[in-house]
Amino acid sequence: TEQTFIMVKPDGVQRGLVGEIVGRFEKRGYQLVNAKMVHASQEHLEQHYADLKGKPFFPGLIKYMASGPVFATVWQGKDVVKQGRALLGATNPLASAPGTIRGDFAIDVGRNICHGSDSVESAKKEISLWFGQDGSIPYKRAVDAWIYE
Ligand code: GTP
Ligand code: MG
Repeated sequence: TEQTFIMVKPDGVQRGLVGEIVGRFEKRGYQLVNAKMVHASQEHLEQHYADLKGKPFFPGLIKYMASGPVFATVWQGKDVVKQGRALLGATNPLASAPGTIRGDFAIDVGRNICHGSDSVESAKKEISLWFGQDGSIPYKRAVDAWIYE
């Protein structure tokens, strides 16, 4: 089944929002299949955000992301890449709907507290960048019978 990479950024960790963000994915029914806290290096973050190299905000983004530990997670379930982005809300919190994570907890685009993979392809790349070979820890959930028809 589909997997995505969701990360609580340093501002989310500092503000005590790890539980809130993880809880929303859990309550939706998605399955947590990996998680860890990492204080990432600039080099690692430049790889993660390679697509944005050259943007005017890139240096500030790397500095922000390297400013403290992040909480990196892998989630699994039906349509989880697209649904995960929907749970996070629009990139710019000023445009994020209330009820989304960013719409409820953030204001500035440069402090938008969370990251989510934007496609199945990037999810695969990001999971291997952050977690290496053993990207996820598979396990059966009895509750799946109550979440999926
Ligand atoms: P992520 O889930 O974090 O990847 O966000 P996204 O996919 O919705 O947006 P994108 O990949 O285009 O940008 C990555 C991150 O760069 C955003 O989440 C913001 O933290 C930051 N960012 C994007 N655009 C801007 C901008 O115009 N100004 C600033 N300061 N930061 C930006
Ligand atoms: Mg992105």
